[in-house]
Amino acid sequence: MRIVLLGPPGAGKGTQAKAMARELKLAHISTGDLLRQNVSSATPLGLEAKEYMNKGLLVPDLLVTKMLEDRFGQSDVKGGFILDGYPRTINQAKTLDSILDAKGMKIDIVFDLDSSEAVIVQRLSGRLVCKKCGALFHKINMPPKVSGVCDQCGGSLYQRDDDKEATIRKRLAVYREEVTALLEYYRAAKLLTTVSADDEASIVLKKIIDRARAL
Ligand code: AP5
Repeated sequence: MRIVLLGPPGAGKGTQAKAMARELKLAHISTGDLLRQNVSSATPLGLEAKEYMNKGLLVPDLLVTKMLEDRFGQSDVKGGFILDGYPRTINQAKTLDSILDAKGMKIDIVFDLDSSEAVIVQRLSGRLVCKKCGALFHKINMPPKVSGVCDQCGGSLYQRDDDKEATIRKRLAVYREEVTALLEYYRAAKLLTTVSADDEASIVLKKIIDRARAL
C-alpha cells in the first residue's frame, strides 16, 4: 500500500505515520526527518536546507527531489510506504507521480489531516522529539514517563528549532498558500480522504487504518 499524508504543521502527520508504519508494516518516509538528519550531520544538503527550515520556508525542490529519489532507491520502499511531508506543492505532486511511474507504482490513497489553528499552535509549542530515535512526545498531551527522556530508547528530548511561535505562523502561511491546489489535484484523481485530526491520536489512527484496510 502507498499512502500520502497531507496536513498542516502539527496536524499529527509524523505521529500518525509512525503508528501506521508499525501497524501496516510500511516504510515511513518523512522529508522533514530526512532533512533534519542532513542538518544534524552537517551535509552540504543539510547546511543549505537549514537556512530555509529555520525561516519556516520550503526547501528548494531540487534539493528535496534528489533526497527523495535516493530514499526511493532503498529496498524497504518496495513493500509499500507512507509519505509524510511530501508533496507540498503541485510541482512536487507531479514529480512524485513521475518518480512512481518510472517504478511502475502509484499512490493508493491520500489522507488530509484537518486540524484547527488553535490545536496546531498548542501541539507545536509543546512538542518534544527524541534526538536518538525521533519518537514524538508532547509536554502536556503525550508527556514522557521521565521528563526529558525518551520512553522508547532513553535518548534525550529536544524542541525543534522551527517550533518557535513566529516560525510556526510562517510555516502555516506557507502551507495555506499551497494546499488548496494540492488538495484539488488529489480530489480530481479520486484519491483524497479528509480526516479530522483534532481528536485524540488513537482515534485518528483508527479512522485512518480502517479506511486504508477497506481499500
Ligand atoms: P516537517 O518536519 O514535515 O514539518 P511540518 O510539515 O511542519 O509538520 P510537523 O512535523 O511540524 O507536524 P506533524 O504534522 O508531523 O505533527 P506531529 O506528529 O509532530 O517539515 C519541516 C520543514 O522541512 C519544513 O518547514 C520545510 O522547511 C522542510 N520540508 C519538509 N518537507 C519538505 C518538502 N516536501 N519540500 C520542501 N521543504 C520541505 O505532532 C505535533 C505535536 O502534537 C507532537 O508533540 C505530538 O505529540 C502532538 N500530537 C500529534 N497528534 C496528536 C493528537 N491527535 N492529540 C494530541 N497531541 C497530538
